[in-house]
Amino acid sequence: MEIGGAGILQIRQVLLFFVLLGMSQAGSDSGRFSVAEEMQSGSFVGNLAKDLGLEVGELFSRGARVVSNDNKQRLQLDINTGDLLLSEALDREELCGSTEPCVLHFQILMKSPLEFLRIELQVKDINDHSPAFLEKEMLLEIPENSPVGAVFLLESAKDLDVGINAIKNYTISPNSHFHIKMRVNPDNRKYPELVLDKALDYEEQSELNFILTALDGGSPPKSGSTLVRVVVVDSNDNSPEFQQPFYEVKISEDSILGSPVVTVSAWDLDSGKNGEISYMFSHASEDIRKTFEINQKSGEVSLTSPLDFETTESYSIIIQATDGGGLFGKSTLRIQVMDVNDNAPEVTVSSITSPIPENSPEIVVMVFSIRDRDSGENGRMICSVSENLPFVLKSSVENYYTLGTERMLDRERQAEYNITITVTDMGTPRLKTEHNITVLVADVNDNAPAFTQTSYTLWVRENNSPALHIGSVSATDTDAGANAQVTYSLLPPPDPLLPLASLVSINPDNGHLFALTSLDYEALRAFEFHVGATDRGSPALSSQALVRVLVADANDNAPFVLYPLQNASAPCTELVPRAAEPGYLVTKVVAVDGDAGQNAWLSYQLLKATEPGLFGVWAHNGEVRTARLLSERDAPKQRLVVLVKDNGEPPLSASVTLHVLLVDGFSQPYLPPPEAEAAAAAPADPLTVYLVVALASVSSLFLFSVLVFVAVRLCRRGGAGSAGRCPVPEGHFPGHLVDVSGTGTLSQSYQYEVCLMGGTGTNEFKFLKPILPNLPTQRPGKEIEENHTSYNSLGFNIQ
Ligand SMILES: *[C@@H]1O[C@H](CO)[C@@H](O)[C@H](O)[C@H]1NC(C)=O
Ligand SMILES: *[C@@H]1O[C@H](CO)[C@@H](O)[C@H](O)[C@H]1NC(C)=O
Ligand SMILES: *[C@@H]1O[C@H](CO)[C@@H](O)[C@H](O)[C@H]1NC(C)=O
Ligand SMILES: *[C@@H]1O[C@H](CO)[C@@H](O)[C@H](O)[C@H]1NC(C)=O
Repeated sequence: MEIGGAGILQIRQVLLFFVLLGMSQAGSDSGRFSVAEEMQSGSFVGNLAKDLGLEVGELFSRGARVVSNDNKQRLQLDINTGDLLLSEALDREELCGSTEPCVLHFQILMKSPLEFLRIELQVKDINDHSPAFLEKEMLLEIPENSPVGAVFLLESAKDLDVGINAIKNYTISPNSHFHIKMRVNPDNRKYPELVLDKALDYEEQSELNFILTALDGGSPPKSGSTLVRVVVVDSNDNSPEFQQPFYEVKISEDSILGSPVVTVSAWDLDSGKNGEISYMFSHASEDIRKTFEINQKSGEVSLTSPLDFETTESYSIIIQATDGGGLFGKSTLRIQVMDVNDNAPEVTVSSITSPIPENSPEIVVMVFSIRDRDSGENGRMICSVSENLPFVLKSSVENYYTLGTERMLDRERQAEYNITITVTDMGTPRLKTEHNITVLVADVNDNAPAFTQTSYTLWVRENNSPALHIGSVSATDTDAGANAQVTYSLLPPPDPLLPLASLVSINPDNGHLFALTSLDYEALRAFEFHVGATDRGSPALSSQALVRVLVADANDNAPFVLYPLQNASAPCTELVPRAAEPGYLVTKVVAVDGDAGQNAWLSYQLLKATEPGLFGVWAHNGEVRTARLLSERDAPKQRLVVLVKDNGEPPLSASVTLHVLLVDGFSQPYLPPPEAEAAAAAPADPLTVYLVVALASVSSLFLFSVLVFVAVRLCRRGGAGSAGRCPVPEGHFPGHLVDVSGTGTLSQSYQYEVCLMGGTGTNEFKFLKPILPNLPTQRPGKEIEENHTSYNSLGFNIQ
């Protein structure tokens, strides 16, 4: 109270004074008036004089006036009439707010005597305010899963009026979910509550709007309203749900990594986080997690590691879709792996036999099994073995095979077989496996050594050095190893007379043949024997071949003059009549050569003569003839030296001395001395006589035959120009040579010479008497045949 300015203090003191005064003097006398609020200024409130029982004059005289407590002049007193009038309109709400009743206190102050009269003025409420909500719009968030009957508070409206004019009721616009319930506070204020009639479903209707209206009790009632927005708050009341409860896909095992398998999809009716779905495999095995991957967001399942149908044919995966609120749904994904022909057949060899012996009947070479890891047609297999080989496949149990020989094998024909076993499956594309084995055929000694020739002809020049290598025989054996190792040997000759062991030897290892002694053509012209070849197999096999050794002649014999005899005590003398024509045959030198062939071809020449030019020697037959007419001047005794030379290399020669006596009156029919000698000698040796007779008859026969033959030939030819001509040998026999091979019989070539000389006279035949040279013992007939063969092989063509 003491706080304040001095003026206020004074007024307060005065008022206190009045109050004390009034209490003591005017006492309990008070007037009560009431007036409705908002009345115009000057409105009548009451008559003070009448209510308080005062005289109108007295008010005037005593100077009555209205004093208010708060010094506001709201009332004025008409002191002439005693009426109390409003000096301004009163607003109850302003004066009293919600206090009811609203009473204003005034005093009427009168002087002489000083007296206070108390006046109470009650301001009555009128419905001059409408209910009003603070906000134009009210937001209410209600979880969708709120139970029916749940109550939600609403903002209440305000109405400044009081009493009956205050808010009386709340209403809401019609809606399907709520109604309003009115509640009264202990202070009697009413407020609305919203009651849920029907469960909210966010998914159905996420927001409701209605109007809340407040009504007061005035008459007429006033109202105020606001918009209530009820936002349904989503709750995670929906689990994610897959579009399909069961997914089934097929994927081929050769799918590339990262390729999509399937995309699963689930939905969730909830919104926001509750509707956010993430996918994952639920309780998947390690294998599945390694092989597949699911995109958390998109639900795409893709391949992360290669598939193998042969390992896993199918996968069952439970896929879980989880929303942000933890609810989930499940679906099963079944992935069927489709087989692709990605495995080639496999061959497993259990046993293999190599080498296999030849000449054996059917032998099992290999036992094997085949396998294909694919299934179905991709795993069905066909097994085959290379064609054109003597091997067959047999199968008693599926996929188990034996490879056996079809027939006996011959190592010598083929010692090694490359066998290809081909296994093909029936998939697409076909896969093929080849298994190559090499089977060796073991040798059995089934082949004897075989000589390269059935017979061998070897030439050895006579007078060879001992231990000369004269040739080789060779045998091969088609077997192998020891079965093919050949040993050579000489077989004992069928003719025990042949001293084979001293003639040749053979190297058992290489078949080289050696002459052990120096051979002599003149002694042994040819011989033959057998060689054997034996292998080292068990049992050993052998074969043989004939070896014929021909001794080639060397010019180791000088010509030997048979006639005229050189060592005769009385040298032979030829008589020549002085009347002889030129070309008169004086004599004939006859020589032989122990050699053969060219080495025995002889030629004659005049080496020395007493009278050169008187005589001539025919080179090829040794005939000595006169070259010109003889004259008286020619000495009666002539001496001629004739050289006989063979055609060897180098040539060997012999010379003979002839004595010729030129005589007068000697005529041809005169018996020539040699013939006389022969005739004289004949009685001494009866054998010679027989031989001469025999030879003469044979010669006659031969001559006759030749004549017949020539005649027949001439008749056949019918040509006159060729008559009288002797057949000419086709060989290239040198015209000036005479072949006198010392065989003891006249060679055909010699006979041919005789034919040529046919026109010269009968005395030719005197040389045809058998003059057997003192030659070594002739071999049996075989060797003689051999000799002929040798001529043939030397190139003489004897007709
Ligand atoms: C309020 O208003 C409603 C409808 O207008 C009516 O049913 C209800 O009886 C009223 N309540 C009161 C207390 O007047
Ligand atoms: C078998 O194969 C080997 C090696 O390829 C080859 O040397 C041989 O000549 C072949 N043999 C046959 C009989 O084809
Ligand atoms: C098997 O042998 C065949 C023919 O001899 C040849 O073409 C093929 O390449 C060989 N296969 C193998 C796997 O050696
Ligand atoms: C002459 O020689 C031959 C052969 O050499 C012989 O056979 C003959 O007896 C010899 N004659 C004389 C008389 O010496």
